[in-house]
Amino acid sequence: MGCPSHRSPNRLRSSRTMQNVPARERLQLISAEEPPSAGFGDDVAAGLAASPKRLACHWFYDEVGSQLFEEICELPEYYLTRCERSILEERAAEIASLFDSPATLVELGSGSASKTRLLIEAFLAEHRRLVFAPIDISETMLESSARRLLDAYPRLEVRAFAGRYESGLEHFATHQSSPRLTLWLGSSVGNLDRMRAARFLRAVRGGMESDDRLLIGIDLRKDRATLEQAYDDAAGVTARFDLNLLERTNRELDADFDLSGFEHRATWRDDLGRVESHLVSRRDQRVRIEALDLDVDFAAGETIHTENSYKYSHDEIDWLAGASGMERETCWLDADGLYSLNLFAPAPA
Ligand code: TRP
Repeated sequence: MGCPSHRSPNRLRSSRTMQNVPARERLQLISAEEPPSAGFGDDVAAGLAASPKRLACHWFYDEVGSQLFEEICELPEYYLTRCERSILEERAAEIASLFDSPATLVELGSGSASKTRLLIEAFLAEHRRLVFAPIDISETMLESSARRLLDAYPRLEVRAFAGRYESGLEHFATHQSSPRLTLWLGSSVGNLDRMRAARFLRAVRGGMESDDRLLIGIDLRKDRATLEQAYDDAAGVTARFDLNLLERTNRELDADFDLSGFEHRATWRDDLGRVESHLVSRRDQRVRIEALDLDVDFAAGETIHTENSYKYSHDEIDWLAGASGMERETCWLDADGLYSLNLFAPAPA
């Protein structure tokens, strides 16, 4: 198959726009130094020696856990993802129109970036260029989702940062110019206690200029049944997600957790405004963790606290914005008023 070209090289060169740049040339992947599993053993040892026992939630997201979390997001009981997506479907164009070109879309914990596509498409409809700058601990996830996005959107550039949020934010604060819109979706802020959430958002605020914004998804307080079902679905996917922490310990630290000896439990604590996830020991048992040379005893009914998911009232969201040196500029809700998407702006100093 011949490929005669009647166009001169010059004309070819001058017609070369972003659209013609191959996907791999529109991708920059920056890796922080830390390996993703550093500290897992130390965390497990400390958490299981504590009373009550706990395991830190950020270890949920190994390859199996990330896959299970994607499944959670599609569950009928897990209204969070569905509500957030519906708000974005309705508001993405309006959000994109608030920013001058060229804009940068930074995303914290992008995962598979499926909801982000709604914003990317809206920004590309409104702006000639767009840099998408996702920050995620999982380099494999970052790279595969970046490639899919670059194939789908010929005018998109991706600068991906594999590492901790703080390092990524610092990097993009100096390497990408304003206006920058930082996305923190999925009510992930709810996995930090309220003081830690404010402290982290103060750090986000520290890297913002006056034209930058934070778009943050925050789940609202609501009735116990809705909340407890969202975190303990009928199909048992959330239970498998929680139990994967024990399986991961078996896999990576040569432990002998018997998964049938534990069950997942989700409890709404109205006083604290949070859903707690626990793994409950069904019987007295001893577990051996070979890599740590450690034996751990469990009494029947004893729990390992694995996650908190804080829920907010509107007053609590305003408090969070203020405590972070920001103000809530706009708030969008889904049709049932279950979930909020908020635009935070830096407060004048
Ligand atoms: N960020 C999610 C949330 O808190 C994570 C999550 C969903 C989760 N279901 C869970 C964490 C069950 C632990 C257990 O909504």
